[in-house]
Amino acid sequence: MPLSANYVKIEWIKHMRIIFYTGKGGVGKTTIAAATGIKLAQLGYKTIVISLDVAHSLRDAFDKSTTAETLTHTEKQLQVTENLWLQEINVQEAIVEYWDEVYNYIRSLLNRSGLETLVAEEIAVFPGMEEICALLYINQYVREKSYDVIILDCAPTGESLRFVSIPTTLEWYMNRIFKLERKLARVAGPVIERVSNVPLPRDPYFQNIQDLFDKLEGIDSVLTDPKITTVRLVTNPEKIVIKETQRAFMYFCLYGLCIDAVVINRIFPEGVDTEYFELWKQTQQHYIREASNYFSDVPMWKVNLFSDEIVGQAGLQKLADTLYADIDPAERFSDRRPYQFRKKDGAYQLTMQLPFLTNKEIELTKHGDELIVTIGGFKRHVALPRSLANRRTTGAKLAGEQLVITFETG
Ligand SMILES: Nc1ncnc2c1ncn2[C@@H]1O[C@H](COP(=O)(O)OP(=O)(O)OP(=O)(O)O)[C@@H](O)[C@H]1O
Ligand SMILES: [Mg+2]
Repeated sequence: MPLSANYVKIEWIKHMRIIFYTGKGGVGKTTIAAATGIKLAQLGYKTIVISLDVAHSLRDAFDKSTTAETLTHTEKQLQVTENLWLQEINVQEAIVEYWDEVYNYIRSLLNRSGLETLVAEEIAVFPGMEEICALLYINQYVREKSYDVIILDCAPTGESLRFVSIPTTLEWYMNRIFKLERKLARVAGPVIERVSNVPLPRDPYFQNIQDLFDKLEGIDSVLTDPKITTVRLVTNPEKIVIKETQRAFMYFCLYGLCIDAVVINRIFPEGVDTEYFELWKQTQQHYIREASNYFSDVPMWKVNLFSDEIVGQAGLQKLADTLYADIDPAERFSDRRPYQFRKKDGAYQLTMQLPFLTNKEIELTKHGDELIVTIGGFKRHVALPRSLANRRTTGAKLAGEQLVITFETG
């Protein structure tokens, strides 16, 4: 029986992978994302590494910044080796392609408010636009089946978190506000303009938003399907970095994404035994142990600090060999969400996946915005989202492999 087009698509998507590399500023995201791209290409996957950071450094990591290799306006992807492409998202370019009407309207509004044209143009690129542009490209590649693996080199944690919440926000806006706004502008627009002297958006503006929304359709289910999309958190063995990684872990769970590995980068290797670094080494070992308390749900990969910065293909290759050795980075190293936060029957709940546990006494301790769960000899630290950090826990019970913790309402 011939396969239907739809079946082929689902089959293909099953094999497709999207992998985020994210973490605090400077921890090594770009370098690790680039090395992962090299390894995947060598394994035969058609791979693209996309930089989502406005301050791009992906091409620098590959040492591909010479003018001879500057991309033309239409060439967005730069081929590095067989099977490997790079893309640094250029928001100005994407605006011309996707946002023309929206951008022009906002710019004209700002211009009218007395802002200089240049300033208005700058401000009209509102927060979130870059992230939406990235999502547009990702969804296009998914729909067109352009690559086997899409690697995303994210901006420092805060921004990449905002990125994953966009599809949900946008859907809410489109379903609740958009249609009403469009109708209002059509019906009441001329009257409002006469009395207030503020131009209201015309139909092409709304059409532009509708087109964008159509192009983004489906991206949220792609991002929250652990068979397709997983997140890898890059961190360093230092207090502040590990803390932020712990929060990022929680936030990705909150947004419904699956984390399948944590990479601890820049560990001082054995050979560094001068007295000067002794305290550093002890501190690092302490935080590596802490990290196993926080991230024991997923594999933790360790990478030593190299003897020099890692730039160019030879360096990246060395990193790829050390980090992955016999591992295929396209594999999924976890396909479940260790925590889920939700509101059920008016009460906030945290559900944790805890296999292999018997019904021992459960102890819950709150420490600032951190919840420490102790069951027998087992201890788990969970960072809490803001809405739960100030609430007391009201109970905890084991149901199969799940521990359900409830929080006070009100
Ligand atoms: N294990 C390592 N050993 C030696 N140098 C490293 C290692 N990991 C990263 N570096 C170097 O550290 C610098 C910063 O790395 P990178 O640009 O990958 O960090 P980033 O997390 O992407 O930073 P940003 O938040 O600014 O995007 C680079 O010069 C890189 O070569
Ligand atoms: Mg970077």
